[in-house]
Amino acid sequence: MRKKIVAGNWKMNNDLQETETLLDEILATKPEFTTAKIVVAPGFVNLQAAVAKTHNSNIIVAAQNMHQAESGAYTGEVSADMLKGIKVNTVILGHSERRAYFGETNALLAEKVTTALKHNFTVIFCFGEELADRQSSNHFNLVESQIREGLFHIPQAEWNNIVLAYEPVWAIGTGETASPEQAQEMHAFIRNLLKEVSAEVAENTSILYGGSVKPANAKEIFSKPDVDGGLIGGASLKASDFLEIVKGIE
Ligand code: G3P
Repeated sequence: MRKKIVAGNWKMNNDLQETETLLDEILATKPEFTTAKIVVAPGFVNLQAAVAKTHNSNIIVAAQNMHQAESGAYTGEVSADMLKGIKVNTVILGHSERRAYFGETNALLAEKVTTALKHNFTVIFCFGEELADRQSSNHFNLVESQIREGLFHIPQAEWNNIVLAYEPVWAIGTGETASPEQAQEMHAFIRNLLKEVSAEVAENTSILYGGSVKPANAKEIFSKPDVDGGLIGGASLKASDFLEIVKGIE
């Protein structure tokens, strides 16, 4: 049975006080009502406080990135062991902003995925096309290459630690959401591609949609058969909006 997941990617927002306040507000709405998995991804410096604040709740704390090396001379980077040491076991990898601003390639992301799975992380693997790809009808090819080159090296048995997040870049932070039909079309394409790994992986892998998900559009997007939840940016920074989106998955 595929897991329903709503994850909030806070990006580079919220200091320690704002992190604790936002989590208090989320926890105050009793998120236990949902059967979906709820994930929040604060910035690195606030992860330990977020783990402490969400202890004994149904909220999972995720990192927004990790380095592929075990340790060493990588100034400014964070390793898997550092994250495990503060009880963070979920990580977002391959976000379009990491790909665009920090030059993360499919090959580099494949290394990061290998390291994350070696340390038994749950990986939320992001991918998605630019507007130019869609306008030139190259979006399916682009997404297929991101998935094949980033993930198809992993053994079938390790796919149970993989969550996919389709985020069309043209919808991220723009207010220009993919239509539910566009999301479903791409998610169905992805699920069919996963059949190359196995029928079980195709059936059991959660595929999230991200890109301007809001309380007003969440329910219709989440209602599509191959959409298993969302990866939320801006709307995850306001507790009431984030919880309205979570309610959209019920
Ligand atoms: O990772 C989620 C993010 O890229 C989506 O951002 O602000 O369009 O919900 P937003």
